Order: sequence, then C-alpha cells, then structure tokens
Amino acid sequence: MKKIVILTGAGMSAESGISTFRDSGGLWEQHRVEDVATIDGYERNPRLVLDFYNERRRQLPAVEPCRGHYLVAELERTFDVTVVTQNVDNLHERAGSSHVIHLHGELMKATSTLSPNDPSQIIELSPDNPDIHIGDRAADGSQLRPFIVWFGEAVPEIERAAEEVAQADIFVIIGTSLNVYPAAGLIQFAPPETPVYLIDPKDVPWQSTHRFHHIKKGASEGMEELMRILKIEN
Ligand code: APR
Repeated sequence: MKKIVILTGAGMSAESGISTFRDSGGLWEQHRVEDVATIDGYERNPRLVLDFYNERRRQLPAVEPCRGHYLVAELERTFDVTVVTQNVDNLHERAGSSHVIHLHGELMKATSTLSPNDPSQIIELSPDNPDIHIGDRAADGSQLRPFIVWFGEAVPEIERAAEEVAQADIFVIIGTSLNVYPAAGLIQFAPPETPVYLIDPKDVPWQSTHRFHHIKKGASEGMEELMRILKIEN
C-alpha cells in the first residue's frame, strides 16, 4: 500500500465552523496570542487561559466533521494514511481517521502544569464536564492545564511526524498558512520525488519555491478534486 501523509491546519476545520487563526475574523484578531496561547501568558493569568480553552472545548460537541474530513478518512481504503494535524479539535477522529498525530495537543485532554508531556499525567476530559477550573489537580498534585502546545513550548510529536513525512509516497497539505514552526518545516522532510498537493483557497507564499500542485479550493471541494486526481471512487 502506498503511504499518504496529510498535514492539516485550521482551514481543514473552517467548513465545520471552527475559526481559523490568521484569516480576517480569525481567532488572533479577537485575542492577543501572548495572553492566551503562550506559556508566559498562562503563568501570568492562568484563569484567562483556562477560560479561553474551556470556551473552545464547549464548542466542540456543536460542530461536525466536514466532507473534507470524511474524504481524508476514506483514503484509508486505498492508502496507508497518516494525518499530522496542527488542530486541537477531534474532527479527524470523529470522521473515522485512525492514525492522527496531534502536533499542538488536543482540546479534550488535560495534563499537569509541572510535567505537561509526561504520558502518565495526561487525562481525557469528559464531554459532560469539560471545563478545567483553577484548583483542579493533575495526578502529581499540580494545577491541571489544557493539553495544548503553547508558543514557547516544545513540540514533542514533531519527530514522529517528520519520520512519517520522510516515508510518504504522496504528501498533502490542507488549510494551513505554514506560519508556525516546526510544523511548517515538515515539507522539507518529504522525499524529493514525492508529489506535494496543497489544498487551500488562498495563495501560500512558499508555493513557488517547491515542486507541488496547488488545488486552489476549500478543504471539501479540494479533497474531492484530489480523489479524482488519485483516481479514487467516492
Ligand atoms: N479550506 C481550506 N483551507 C482554508 C479554508 C477552507 N475552507 N479557509 C481558510 N483556509 C486556509 C487559509 O487560507 C490559511 O492558509 O487555512 C489557512 C489557515 O491558516 P492559519 O489561520 O494560520 O492556521 P494554521 O496554519 O492552522 O495555524 C497554525 O498557529 O496559532 C497557531 O497553534 C495554532 O495550530 C495553529 C498554528
């Protein structure tokens, strides 16, 4: 079976109704990144940061995977598929993808403030009781925090993701502005003969410097076109 690696960003979930970060009306127009998405911001004002992620988490049950998520999952019938996502939502899993690497963490998980990447500290939050409050404790006794990789923190999953990309026969990038490293550097790991498909309705600045095919459409229509290019019935 040929191996496809799919790198996704906020644009993948835009058609499900989750805001992107850097488009107009995006999350970072409404919030200061330094306040809600950095480790320094969390240390300064943990309550504000917990509330920000509590709100994101409460949105999740109200949104559904879009056609694009389902088509990504359908690729598993024909290919060995790994999804590498920068998204913290669970829409790839809910659409049926079985091998998803979350580079920036997962909204429905919580962890310890002291040792955020210690697997024994990471817990699944219940959809019935999803909020994290000041005073909630992790197993090690420290304040419970979202299992989110903030700016200024290590990205432990990047090595596993790079290994996957290095073995890809086909590399697909969907809905990411590729502004944030190390995720943006993953394309460098694709073997030179591996075709790269980019699905994004906008031009992306790095496109002229790489050998790739731009499907200039949204995630769902773009995935339909990719299925046609790869000659997969759906
Ligand atoms: N379908 C596909 N792509 C879309 C769609 C759509 N319907 N709508 C918008 N896009 C594209 C935009 O053109 C843009 O290129 O999605 C991209 C979204 O880019 P960003 O908002 O920068 O999101 P992302 O690249 O995922 O951000 C990376 O930054 O703030 C951090 O940790 C956060 O994981 C996030 C990281």
